Amino acid sequence: MRVVATRAELAEAQEGAGDRRTALVPTMGYLHEGHLSLVDRARELGDRVVVSIFVNPLQFGPGEDLERYPRDRERDLDLLRQRGADLIFVPELDEMYPHGEPTVTVSPGSMAKRLCGAHRPGHFRGVLTVVARLFGLVRPEAAVFGRKDFQQGVLIRRMVRDLEMGVQVELSPIVREDDGLALSSRNAYLGSGERAAAAALSRALFEARERWRAGTSSASSLLEGIRGRVAAESLLQLQYAEAVDPDSLESVGQVVEGTVLALAAFCGTTRLIDNVELSGR
Ligand code: PAF
Repeated sequence: MRVVATRAELAEAQEGAGDRRTALVPTMGYLHEGHLSLVDRARELGDRVVVSIFVNPLQFGPGEDLERYPRDRERDLDLLRQRGADLIFVPELDEMYPHGEPTVTVSPGSMAKRLCGAHRPGHFRGVLTVVARLFGLVRPEAAVFGRKDFQQGVLIRRMVRDLEMGVQVELSPIVREDDGLALSSRNAYLGSGERAAAAALSRALFEARERWRAGTSSASSLLEGIRGRVAAESLLQLQYAEAVDPDSLESVGQVVEGTVLALAAFCGTTRLIDNVELSGR
């Protein structure tokens, strides 16, 4: 496994790759089994797996956790080595943005005004801009992202489609703890009481999925159930719960196969997100 920190080293490694099909896994580090499952998927999609580790300031708003975002470079590299990644790109800020903060950025459009985007203005502009930049630097044939960041995945797919970027975008299933909590680097912030409370989020989603499978199709009824479940946990503060079409992200009134139930909540000061795609009725 080779580790490179500069664009020049990355370009040299790319040249050496010849015709091999490259699959990219963009990350912000502090890797967990969810990220490593993306590496496994990338291995199936390409002959060569490139992983980037970069905590992208453009996607953090004022007062968010940019400074305290967890970092552990050596542990990340050990995990990636064990998982068989080929090339790791670990740029510093001035290597990623050598001309300072970009003035030309990728506008995510109206789909970013919903769900998480409604509460994190500028977030998806920052995400799409860094992903477009990584695509430009690595020139992958495929890229793999986690379904936990569902809106992000949908927007990246839309960017690739609308800008003809020619990258196959794969969204990999959410990896969960035994009690259902979706894996996230931010789970590291949770104290033990918060950690126990956080599991109520996935429970609320799974319960709504069971009610849908049992015949309840009204989005408002399912969402009421989710809100009630989350409200019963005093350490949780729901930010939103919505039932949306998986392509347009528009809210739906009637829930059908493929509808996504998505939520965001604060657990203490930690913002967590989760979602389920409805299937199996
Ligand atoms: O999902 C993430 O970790 C980040 O949003 C990404 C895609 C690596 C862009 O910084």
